[in-house]
Amino acid sequence: MSDAAPKKEQRRKFQAIRGTRDLLPPDTDLWNHAEETARSVFGSFGFGEIRPPIFEPTELFARAVGGETDIVSKEMYTFAASSESANDESASEMISLRPEATASVCRAYIEHNMQQLPQPVKLFYMGPMFRRERPQKGRYRQFYQIGAEVLENVKPDPTRNAVKELSKDAITDAEVIQMVMTFFDRLKLPGVQLEINSIGHAAENCRRGYVAKLKAALEKVKDKLGADSQRRIETNPLRVLDSKLEQEQPFIAELPKIADHLCDDCKTQYAGVKRELELRGVLYKENWRLVRGLDYYMRTTFEITAQGLGSQNAVCGGGRYDGLVELLGGPPTKGIGFAIGEDRLILSLQETKDSSLGTGRRSPLVYIAWMGTNAYAAAVRAARDWRAANIGVELPPTEQKLGKALERADKLGAHFALILGDNEVAQGTWTLKSLADGQQHKLTEPQLLDFLRRL
Ligand code: HAM
Repeated sequence: MSDAAPKKEQRRKFQAIRGTRDLLPPDTDLWNHAEETARSVFGSFGFGEIRPPIFEPTELFARAVGGETDIVSKEMYTFAASSESANDESASEMISLRPEATASVCRAYIEHNMQQLPQPVKLFYMGPMFRRERPQKGRYRQFYQIGAEVLENVKPDPTRNAVKELSKDAITDAEVIQMVMTFFDRLKLPGVQLEINSIGHAAENCRRGYVAKLKAALEKVKDKLGADSQRRIETNPLRVLDSKLEQEQPFIAELPKIADHLCDDCKTQYAGVKRELELRGVLYKENWRLVRGLDYYMRTTFEITAQGLGSQNAVCGGGRYDGLVELLGGPPTKGIGFAIGEDRLILSLQETKDSSLGTGRRSPLVYIAWMGTNAYAAAVRAARDWRAANIGVELPPTEQKLGKALERADKLGAHFALILGDNEVAQGTWTLKSLADGQQHKLTEPQLLDFLRRL
């Protein structure tokens, strides 16, 4: 076999799979900057990091996100978990690459008995998510999210004051929204717009009643709607409100609005969120059509858009999900959180030309142009010592003529070239040439380290 000519498929040129991509320098500088900023801002709000696994039982997402949602019904990467042991019950279990992380965070809250920790538990995460969507600008099959969740155990308490409780929840919602807006502000994300809504809770005198009215109104205009919306009248009428189809807009505008059908508690809570946002100076727009594509939401929902993203302009989505932990087998728990689409965040930041990060290759401060055997040994030592002092050094692996070396130093964007021949090593004074103005400094090795450190 090994003598045979390479088969056609062995000569295949591999490419990243459709909907996935390599993130490369210098772009990764901007990614790292965004992630460091998130750690710093979220840390200042008392959030700690959680790193859940990338795959979980399919059933976890089906139950949390909803079996009828696009995410679960069409977009998950699902496969059979295989195990060495045929008797292992989990061998036949289906597992999925995570399409989102809220379900995982709730699973972890239950698994690690986090209701025993001081409440609320505030967690953030960052990492890849997977959805088999049609790829386009700002939409990938492997994409990255930076998200945060606040989970709070609800203890049975007969003296509980319902109004106080609703106002406490409103404060938590506003603080979570304020945190993500602070993060965008810190990054100078252009054209940020926050939209909020309340989708009430699943009761006859609230969302359930509204959905029945909505469904009846949709039935009346059914033949004016596209195939997707017609299907959604049956599966999830709320999602029709999400439609971007031009010809459906006049009919959607006339549909009953949820704000007119919220129960008193949901109304109080929504009014509280708006009041608390105002108190914090967070600007928002109300959007009664903001229903979100995951089933676990109740009451507050929100989305944030940014500039330069075309049709995929939602850079963050989130909302409240009281009851989700219970649905997954845990204790009664309240929840609120969001996830930022990091790919979109970076795209939008790159649209702003004044972004000083992520432009050009990481330039070395010093390029060591060494010539001669003794100079080489001195160059290796200097490179080690200077890098230890966090000074960027480029050490060429071969000896070069001075002209060539300076040309290369210039190409790499180095600020200085150290000109180091055997003579310089013997004399103990080395020459540092500034590539910007050609100025030369003759210094001893300790003086050089001192000089470079001060820059
Ligand atoms: P989501 O709205 O499905 O919510 O996703 C949040 C954000 O992830 C979106 O606004 C978008 O920026 C980004 N995103 C989603 N799909 C893609 C994709 N295919 N390519 C690029 N970016 C994408 C959630 O995932 C919820 N777990 C958020 C949440 C947390 N709610 C409460 N807690």
